[in-house]
Amino acid sequence: MRVLMVCLGNICRSPMAEGILRDLAATRGIELSVDSAGTYAGHQGEAPDLRAQDEMKKRGHSIQRIRSRPMRPADFDAFDRIFVMDKSNYRDVLSMASDPAMEKKVGLFLNQAWPEKDLEVPDPYFGGQHGFERVYTLLERAAEAFLDSIDEQR
Ligand code: 4NP
Repeated sequence: MRVLMVCLGNICRSPMAEGILRDLAATRGIELSVDSAGTYAGHQGEAPDLRAQDEMKKRGHSIQRIRSRPMRPADFDAFDRIFVMDKSNYRDVLSMASDPAMEKKVGLFLNQAWPEKDLEVPDPYFGGQHGFERVYTLLERAAEAFLDSIDEQR
């Protein structure tokens, strides 16, 4: 299965989600291909925000080699699931979809842990390190729940 994580800048939340899901899947022996992208191209080519890198390093993950890239319509074919961080990402990604099968691939990532609650991963960009800690906690819960659902299907 191929999973794409999407946020606005692809320098804070979605690279963290990518690193967490990739590492937790490997720990469980689940074969997943994980990538991330942003709906806004302004940070294209940049490494993740240093606060995101620090938070991930503290928890034993490395994301320093990820580079920001914009999401493109071809990603709907390249990925089986597209997880977005907030409702604004959801609207932006859906606006790129050209058929219902594509739309069906898109969902709020936190709905994996809290089904149908439509909770959002808060944008930590304009806050301090505490926001990144909070983002980490939420993403880890969602990643574990997603992997649980894969384990149950195996
Ligand atoms: P991200 O955070 O969407 O989690 O990567 C942001 C990164 C950059 C900006 C906003 C949010 N920005 O306004 O440039």
